[in-house]
Amino acid sequence: MTDYVQVAKVSDLIASGKLILEVEDRMVVLLYVNDQFFCIDDVCTHDGGPLGEGKLCGHELACPRHGAKFDIRTGAALTMPATEATVVHEVRIEGDNVCVRINED
Ligand code: FES
Repeated sequence: MTDYVQVAKVSDLIASGKLILEVEDRMVVLLYVNDQFFCIDDVCTHDGGPLGEGKLCGHELACPRHGAKFDIRTGAALTMPATEATVVHEVRIEGDNVCVRINED
């Protein structure tokens, strides 16, 4: 685990609901759902699809390439063709700053 780094403004994330960012050379997706903040890799474990461009329904994010769904809370792959979880990262709110700690797994 690395240290937390400030990556966005809370107000910007709340306004958009989703932000795709590069944090420490890693593409991640920040999400705001039901007053909670989440961060996962912007990479589908099936074939590298850009998860951040997928459709979000509740806590399920669908890969835009072949439709595999992932739980943004755990990274778990919920539907085929993905079978492996994607990586989740820790999010901490400091005032109006969204901070992320990259999980290097
Ligand atoms: S690349 Fe995501 S489902 Fe195939």
